[in-house]
Amino acid sequence: MSVLLVTGAGFITWAYHHSNYWNQIGFAPAQPVLFSHRHHAKELRIDCRFCHSTVETSAFAGMPSTQTCLSCHSQIFTNTPMLRPVIQSAARNVPLQWSRVTHLPDHVFFDHSIHVNKGVGCTTCHGEIGQMALTAKGEPLTMRWCLDCHRDPGPRLRPASEIFAAISPAARPPGRQLALMRHYDIHAHNLTNCSICHH
Ligand code: HEC
Ligand code: HEC
Ligand code: HEC
Ligand code: HEC
Ligand code: HEC
Repeated sequence: MSVLLVTGAGFITWAYHHSNYWNQIGFAPAQPVLFSHRHHAKELRIDCRFCHSTVETSAFAGMPSTQTCLSCHSQIFTNTPMLRPVIQSAARNVPLQWSRVTHLPDHVFFDHSIHVNKGVGCTTCHGEIGQMALTAKGEPLTMRWCLDCHRDPGPRLRPASEIFAAISPAARPPGRQLALMRHYDIHAHNLTNCSICHH
């Protein structure tokens, strides 16, 4: 009986760690402004890089400054109460404090630029951003999840024209996968070495 209980508790711990609750998929933290990617990225078709301007060139994607918002909102929708924190941020010269949606532990190395330049689209790692009224975590971002792709990236690669799509494009036929691996010059056998992600 006690063995059963111990195994049962072990299973519950395992299930808890592997559940979406633990990985916080779908969790949207509170934000200073109710900013909608569905509105801005999908409906208004503003390019990701307009606000996340270092995503192609550095490890960090970059976050928009208050001035980036005001490039439109000094003229559009200025009177809505929803935008008051943006106007105040500018008036007081205090940046908006966005809550993090994704966050890796410090012992993991991650770089946006290499992924974006080697055919991995934003929504592959962040989920359907273009459907989010509030930004939520879209994928688990666990080690196992990273490794699933690093073992065999081909099926998840996209041509350069589809990297910044706010909604995931349809899956590619198998023939194209090899062509994309060759196009991006990817050698999957190195990508599971511990030292790639843990320096
Ligand atoms: C008009 C500016 C703007 C555009 C365009 C935009 N974003 Fe954002 N993005 C933001 C702001 C502001 C936040 C912080 C608030 C939030 O999380 O919703 C954010 C947060 C995020 C986050 C969460 C970051 C984190 O971990 O805390 C992701 C992921 C993201 N954006 C992806 C995208 C993608 C992909 C696109 C293009 C399809 C895009 N964004 C287009 C302004 C923008
Ligand atoms: C390229 C222009 C542009 C930029 C840049 C922009 N917005 Fe907007 N935003 C709009 C437009 C247009 C609307 C009104 C959309 C509508 O209702 O048709 C809007 C609406 C809004 C609203 C009202 C609620 C909603 O989603 O309709 C909020 C809040 C908002 N924006 C916040 C922001 C923040 C915060 C930033 C900076 C991170 C930002 N916007 C950057 C064009 C922009
Ligand atoms: C291979 C997976 C992957 C791809 C592709 C990817 N991201 Fe991320 N993104 C992450 C991870 C992981 C984090 C958390 C990084 C951390 O905590 O250090 C993150 C964090 C972010 C953040 C918060 C700021 C930062 O850099 O920590 C933004 C904004 C963001 N991503 C936007 C984008 C956009 C826009 C694209 C497409 C151009 C994109 N991401 C493509 C995995 C990815
Ligand atoms: C959908 C596929 C995919 C996912 C998911 C993914 N990666 Fe990658 N990753 C790649 C590809 C493709 C490359 C480039 C391989 C090459 O250059 O040959 C790469 C390269 C890297 C590199 C090497 C960077 C360098 O400078 O050489 C690191 C580090 C890395 N990824 C970390 C991560 C981490 C951490 C995660 C999970 C949070 C992750 N990746 C998720 C596909 C992916
Ligand atoms: C593609 C990137 C990647 C590779 C390769 C990788 N890891 Fe990780 N590792 C991660 C990420 C991401 C996390 C953080 C997971 C989380 O926070 O849920 C992590 C976490 C860990 C942890 C902390 C324990 C934990 O569960 O958080 C250890 C220990 C670890 N990795 C060891 C290894 C070893 C040993 C290897 C080689 C066999 C390896 N990793 C290869 C991405 C990677």
